[in-house]
Amino acid sequence: MSQLEELLAVWLPRQRWFSGKGIPIRQIRVESRHTLVSAGPDGPDLDVLVLQAGQRGRSSRYQLLLGSRPPGSLPPDLARVAIGVCRTAGGRPTVVYDAAHDAQLTGLLLRRFAEPAAPGQSGQVRFRTLPGERIRPGTTGRILTGEQSNTSLVFGQDYILKTFRRLWPGPNPDLELTMALSGSPYVARSCGWIEADLPGYTTPTTLAMLQRFIPQATDGWVLATANVRSLLDGTGSDRQSAFTGEAARLGRTTAEVHRSLAAALPTDVLSPVGAAALADAMVQRLATASAEVPELAEHAPRVMAAYTDFAEVDEPLPIQRIHGDYHLGQAVRTGAGWVLLDFEGEPTVPVRDRQRLSSPLRDVAGMLRSFDYAAGYLLVGHPGDPELEWAAHAWAQHNREAFCRGYADGGGSDPEKHLTVLRAFEFDKAVYEVLYEARNRPNWLRVPLESIASAAAAPPVPG
Ligand SMILES: Nc1ncnc2c1ncn2[C@@H]1O[C@H](COP(=O)(O)OP(=O)(O)O)[C@@H](O)[C@H]1O
Ligand SMILES: [Mg+2]
Repeated sequence: MSQLEELLAVWLPRQRWFSGKGIPIRQIRVESRHTLVSAGPDGPDLDVLVLQAGQRGRSSRYQLLLGSRPPGSLPPDLARVAIGVCRTAGGRPTVVYDAAHDAQLTGLLLRRFAEPAAPGQSGQVRFRTLPGERIRPGTTGRILTGEQSNTSLVFGQDYILKTFRRLWPGPNPDLELTMALSGSPYVARSCGWIEADLPGYTTPTTLAMLQRFIPQATDGWVLATANVRSLLDGTGSDRQSAFTGEAARLGRTTAEVHRSLAAALPTDVLSPVGAAALADAMVQRLATASAEVPELAEHAPRVMAAYTDFAEVDEPLPIQRIHGDYHLGQAVRTGAGWVLLDFEGEPTVPVRDRQRLSSPLRDVAGMLRSFDYAAGYLLVGHPGDPELEWAAHAWAQHNREAFCRGYADGGGSDPEKHLTVLRAFEFDKAVYEVLYEARNRPNWLRVPLESIASAAAAPPVPG
């Protein structure tokens, strides 16, 4: 490995967005490197690097925005994002660091979108804007903090640039679906993107997406948990604690977006063979999770029965492109209503799998699980209080029902009429959560386990 690759092998596993945590890195290879902006002959420079990280039995691609400056010239506020010192190809020592934190460089990056004729536009990395879109430069990027799997930079009140950390060759579904939904009042408008030709691939790969920033938007997860909290600590009046109106509206918006996706992109009907294959995959995930989490095993027979019922459903199941990673944190509430974000799907799943058509009820199931999480989250710190547990459970139940009602009112297939399918999808999601929590946040494990226990205790869906 080169000197830079050695430095990155130490730095990479410490990044929040690194998805291979806990497994030692055997090798880092810089697959490609391109200078996107340069502030002058002495820098700073911003390069985009595509890395291949080799770990036991797997190799994953990541994107890194690398800043470089001569030693001694790194401003003090960037010292904490320094990666190390290495030599350039010309033999000069240079300090390299995470350029997403460098306001001077991010300002220049936005400017690149505004200058379609800038040199390098038609090389292996290209800045693209949508026809008719004129990008206003002049602001610098502020990095979003928070539990992100990617890294987003907010420019003033205008734009947000999301750089995709885990890369898979080809178009990113976030860009693909947001473009298909362009004009919809329920998604943020895409203005441009950065794409690269990865060595060995003919289709361009999306590195980043530039979107209109929605100012004064509140995250759905933040709104929902604040509401549960006020209810549980007794400060919420009946009116304040009635989130159900929001849940119903979110359901309607979700249905609208599903309908727009179905109108703009291919649709199909799931064949019986396809349904059996889906059920098999769910059974497989259940077996893996039950082997690792004994508390799940006692409910496994009821969950299995739900999967068998799903495989035997004889009505045709419409499939289409869906959100793919839908939960309360993927929607923001604006003055005008809900706006849905982050159509990337699950970033650790290969893009070609995420592009497969699926039932929109999978997204519905994802959101229903999220209501259980919002309610359960606040119980994590208060175990063994039956009154609180009852209130949290009731909150989740009311909001789940409201969301489903809104979804049906908005023209989505009525969840009430597809309970067998919905139940299987919800179990599948909860089983995934069990495994995730057991591995990452054991004190949250009770949230999906309790959902599974109560759903497993409910009578099977009639019919
Ligand atoms: N267009 C936008 N306008 C306002 N806020 C946004 C916008 N896009 C994203 N955000 C904020 O950034 C957060 C992370 O964005 P998201 O696309 O979900 O990234 P990730 O893929 O890392 O989860 C969102 O939860 C939201 O709070
Ligand atoms: Mg997200």
